[in-house]
Amino acid sequence: STIKIIKVKDRNEGGKKAFELIKEAIQSGAEVFGLATGSTPETLYRELRESDLDFSDKTAINLDEYIGLSKDHPQSYHTFMKKQLFDYKPFKQTFIPDGLGDENTEPEKYDKIVDAHPIDVQILGIGTNAHIGFNEPGTPFDSKTHKVTLTQETIDANKRYFDSEEDVPRHAFSMGIKSIMSAKKIILMAYGENKAEAIARTVHGPVTEEVPSSILQTHPDVVIIVDEEAASQL
Ligand code: GLP
Repeated sequence: STIKIIKVKDRNEGGKKAFELIKEAIQSGAEVFGLATGSTPETLYRELRESDLDFSDKTAINLDEYIGLSKDHPQSYHTFMKKQLFDYKPFKQTFIPDGLGDENTEPEKYDKIVDAHPIDVQILGIGTNAHIGFNEPGTPFDSKTHKVTLTQETIDANKRYFDSEEDVPRHAFSMGIKSIMSAKKIILMAYGENKAEAIARTVHGPVTEEVPSSILQTHPDVVIIVDEEAASQL
């Protein structure tokens, strides 16, 4: 595979590294950015907030949203993106699946958006079970936007953001693996010991739908930014 690994000291340095890659991509004409949530991209978003980069002619397309949460719900990914980035760096347009959208029509609606704005740079975190976006193990590699049932592992990993485990939504809308793979360039970040196994399986394991991120081995331009702990099983 052609996956490029960049090892960094910690998530602060990782955010700076990812920021540099985004800056270079913009200089080469990138206009559409696929964005991710979770704690992992937060240091990148800080770099972007504090930078003088101008996104007012750029487009952002987010990976996923919890089903059942309104845009202004404190734990929605809409709220996350506003607080982390969009309130500080206005984009020409931003897209995130509508958590209150109709389950029968929202996926197709979002696919039209993704198809109309081919992604130049896709930012990714990774789940401890190697999910990307909310594409859990077993998701077909040819999937487009779809309704996902979250695994217990993912619910447990994300419950820290909610008052209690019962408050974590059980479903989400997520861009599919095929949509993610159609991005020209992919930057995946992972920090900490609990991501080490997922990273090893992403880079060296068999390419299998049981390990969603393993498909990245077949993409021509993937950069993985890892700290020492996340790289410890490579
Ligand atoms: C959620 C998001 C993923 C993210 C993952 C890891 O499941 N849907 O996009 O990669 O969490 O989160 P964290 O970066 O907080 O470890």
